[in-house]
Amino acid sequence: MIELKNISKSYKGKGVFTRALVNVSLRVEPGDFIAIMGRSGSGKTTLLNILGCMDRFDEGEYLFDNVNIHKYREKELANFRNKNIGFIFQAFNLINDMTAVENVELPMGFAGLNSRERRTNAMKLLDDVGLKDKAFNKPLELSGGQQQRVAIARALANNPKIILADEPTGNLDEESGFQIMDLLKNLNNQKKVTIIMVTHDEQIAKYADRIVYMRDGVLL
Ligand SMILES: Nc1ncnc2c1ncn2[C@@H]1O[C@H](COP(=O)(O)OP(=O)(O)OP(=O)(O)O)[C@@H](O)[C@H]1O
Ligand SMILES: [Mg+2]
Repeated sequence: MIELKNISKSYKGKGVFTRALVNVSLRVEPGDFIAIMGRSGSGKTTLLNILGCMDRFDEGEYLFDNVNIHKYREKELANFRNKNIGFIFQAFNLINDMTAVENVELPMGFAGLNSRERRTNAMKLLDDVGLKDKAFNKPLELSGGQQQRVAIARALANNPKIILADEPTGNLDEESGFQIMDLLKNLNNQKKVTIIMVTHDEQIAKYADRIVYMRDGVLL
């Protein structure tokens, strides 16, 4: 599904030069659930951003379903991303003056659905994450775990093949964290959504089928 071949990326600025990724190669098969672990600054978020086509790399090759993503222009890449990839962040990244259901509908705009279809789909997704009764509340009226569940529903808005999650439980208490992980595990088991997740927590990493480690930009 995804094949990264010898990806390297550096950040250059103000005389500082950081090699964030060094010759990273990774194969991801459909239905995989992968955890990425490693110290702060080891390149985990950089790798996730590249997997999600949010960031460019200096060297190497990225194939998604055997298509080299190099060939996409900016706009095609945005469409490709919207269709195939859902993101979940540590800090939820919801829009605070929109309701839960409006947040979930947001990515659907690009997918050519009318407003009634968007509403129906978004309510179904909120129901799936157990939050139908909070659909018309705004994020700040929800608990952290509930906000992250809204974020998961939003990530699923366009039926992505793959979910990328950067410390999805990092801002949650233990109990809410495990709830989020049960939800992701179910998506992976039942809907065969491929998941790649960064975490610092050994207990959380155990939900994955495979754990990979990063050190100083190198995938070990
Ligand atoms: N926009 C940027 N400009 C310059 N350097 C950056 C930028 N983003 C990341 N870096 C550097 O690249 C390296 C990898 O950063 P990255 O965010 O991928 O680490 P991480 O493993 O996600 O760390 P953490 O666990 O703290 O989130 C770090 O040395 C970081 O300082
Ligand atoms: Mg990070």
